[in-house]
Amino acid sequence: KTRHLVVEPGQPNAAIIQEAGALLRKGELVAFPTETVYGLGANALNAHAVASIFAAKGRPADNPLIVHTDSPKSLERYIDQFPPVLAQLAARFWPGPLTLVLRCSHAFPPVVTGGLDTVAVRVPAHPVALALIRAAGVPVAAPSANVSGRPSPTIAAHVLDDLSGKIALVLDGGPAGLGVESTVLDISGDRPVILRPGGIIQRDLEAVLGEVKIAPEVDDVALAGDRPRSPGMKYTHYAPRAPLVLFEGYDPGRVAAGVLNEAMRMAADGRKVGIFTYCETASLYDGQGYSVVVAGKRSDPRTVAASLYASLRRFDHLGVEVILAEGITPDGLGMAVENRLRRAAGGHVVTI
Ligand code: TXA
Ligand code: MG
Repeated sequence: KTRHLVVEPGQPNAAIIQEAGALLRKGELVAFPTETVYGLGANALNAHAVASIFAAKGRPADNPLIVHTDSPKSLERYIDQFPPVLAQLAARFWPGPLTLVLRCSHAFPPVVTGGLDTVAVRVPAHPVALALIRAAGVPVAAPSANVSGRPSPTIAAHVLDDLSGKIALVLDGGPAGLGVESTVLDISGDRPVILRPGGIIQRDLEAVLGEVKIAPEVDDVALAGDRPRSPGMKYTHYAPRAPLVLFEGYDPGRVAAGVLNEAMRMAADGRKVGIFTYCETASLYDGQGYSVVVAGKRSDPRTVAASLYASLRRFDHLGVEVILAEGITPDGLGMAVENRLRRAAGGHVVTI
């Protein structure tokens, strides 16, 4: 049975944190809030514990995990070199929603890295996450705490919906912060490359590094006959139970009109239609029997990021057969949101 313990997010109860840290140390799985989404932690030095993350999530073994530490300093013990760019990025963005992919030092069992010669690391900014890692006294491998392929959890109830009975404990610190995951930046090669857009936006990275490229979308990569650089990018992700069709285009009004057209066509076929929309265009769908979920304000991507995954999960309870989603401009945090919507659509994208 999975225990559920509530902690004050800013000042978690020390006895609870000690207990959770001890569970991690001895190889159990503990879910915890971070400033992005909830993570599912295991002792990164214990291959057996890490393997149980893959079992609990149903995660493909070739998709590597992020190792979390409480400071750049505690990371030094586990990596061979601390390249200047790592020091620079750590000073600017840690603790925070930036994951760095480094050359591997073999301190971690291969199950953590999926057998790659690189390892992903980050120092999270949430007080509960930091206190837990400190109490565990070991680096903590942690993917998002959802069943593989499902939307990431942003509250403890989502963790329990997916993983109840499969993990020892969930620390409930209320809603996670940003609502989308960390940016994954590969600094193992000659030039830094964004493998997954996330909480730290491209512009802020470029202020430190100069031009930073984004890895080509997995579909383009597949066409070019290459292997995707980030194994996680090749799977459908973040998806609600019903199929999702994403509508993209420069003009939000036309995109919404396209969604409405398709919704009317599908409803005429007798299908139960869900609509993923924003404050600005939500009223367009009023009074027509659609299940409408409003995911924040298009003009403020932070609000969309914060409600994105909960919004996708809501469709599961509304019993819809298909979801039509309006895309968002991939600018700032909107880039992370649009990336997740594309993954949720699994290739069903209509360009208007
Ligand atoms: O915000 C976050 O990053 C959350 C919280 C819990 O920290 N964690 C998270 O983990 O999103 P996960 O496992 O859901 O996503 C990790 C991503 C995957 O796309 C994975 O393929 C990529 O990081 N990754 C991990 N190690 C890698 C490596 N060595 N090379 C390239 N990509 C890697
Ligand atoms: Mg994930």
